[in-house]
Amino acid sequence: MAISYLRVSVTDRCNFRCRYCMPEGKKEFIPHPEILRYEEIAEVVRVFSQFGVTSVRLTGGEPLVRKGLESLVYQLKEIDGIKEVSLTTNGFFLEEKAEALKEAGLNRVNVSLDTLNPEKFSYITRGGEEAFYRVLRGIEKARNVGLVPVKVNTVLIKGFNDSEIEDFVRFSANFGVEVRFIELMPVGGQFFSRENFIPISTVRELLEEKFGELQPVKTVKMGPAKSFRVGDTGAVVGFIPSVSQHFCSECNRVRLTSDGKLRLCLMSDREIDLKSVLRSPEGYSEEMLKKVIAGALLLKKNVNGIEALESLGCSRKMFTIGG
Ligand code: 5AD
Ligand code: SF4
Repeated sequence: MAISYLRVSVTDRCNFRCRYCMPEGKKEFIPHPEILRYEEIAEVVRVFSQFGVTSVRLTGGEPLVRKGLESLVYQLKEIDGIKEVSLTTNGFFLEEKAEALKEAGLNRVNVSLDTLNPEKFSYITRGGEEAFYRVLRGIEKARNVGLVPVKVNTVLIKGFNDSEIEDFVRFSANFGVEVRFIELMPVGGQFFSRENFIPISTVRELLEEKFGELQPVKTVKMGPAKSFRVGDTGAVVGFIPSVSQHFCSECNRVRLTSDGKLRLCLMSDREIDLKSVLRSPEGYSEEMLKKVIAGALLLKKNVNGIEALESLGCSRKMFTIGG
């Protein structure tokens, strides 16, 4: 599979502390000088675009805690060959940022939202109930300024939000957003356990029982999610069976961490250090970066599939990779 999609984590910091993602009092983050500057990220993306990358997604941590993210969006959109720049955010700063991001050329946003209950929201994010309403306003704002289609990411956690599947269907219809159900992955440790895991198949069955057969929506889709209309509710849902179905053979993506490491697979600790090329004491050379990236992509081609089986080999926490 050709690599057309690059996920870029711009920071490992976040204003929330979701229980499945970050430890509660976490204060030690990657020191600022180790984080790639926007110019460095743009340079990496520019070289990747020469290898066929057309689509970039900015992630975190929470990408909007990093100042002036719109200027990075603008720089990335200026690159020949980059057709789409999108953002995955917790939505907290979206109400105030959506317009500037749109103006800078951002195409779309995905917003993480695991519950529609303010109290539960506060529990899972450790962010307070007011934050829930801010996120809802952020979603509306994103839709209104045209960062569409807005997609909502919902990580399934048994005993926590499995009672809300139908609420999310109504939410999708009312807010005009696609809700994508994601299987909880064993990345980040702590909160993950077998007892908390809900397979996508359970959600599908529940929806089909309630609303009849799901109707596939035709999309020019880039990733593992498949979209469906839910009966005549007006809702659109997607499924990301991250754990129950490997989709390595369809994998079209690589990831850049905020400290400049290239990850070939979410589940594997194999990393290629691009920062040391960008900041080489002998001076930066585009030729060298090209060589290193070419080598990495070759490795990716050869290890796809096997890497999924290495799933025990992921010691980074999710907030340092960005999902
Ligand atoms: N399993 C599944 N999804 C996760 N995310 C964070 N941690 C996990 C996990 N352990 C999701 C976030 C966000 C996306 C970037 O990754 O909710 O939507
Ligand atoms: Fe922050 Fe997202 Fe992790 Fe929650 S899941 S703590 S919003 S990075």
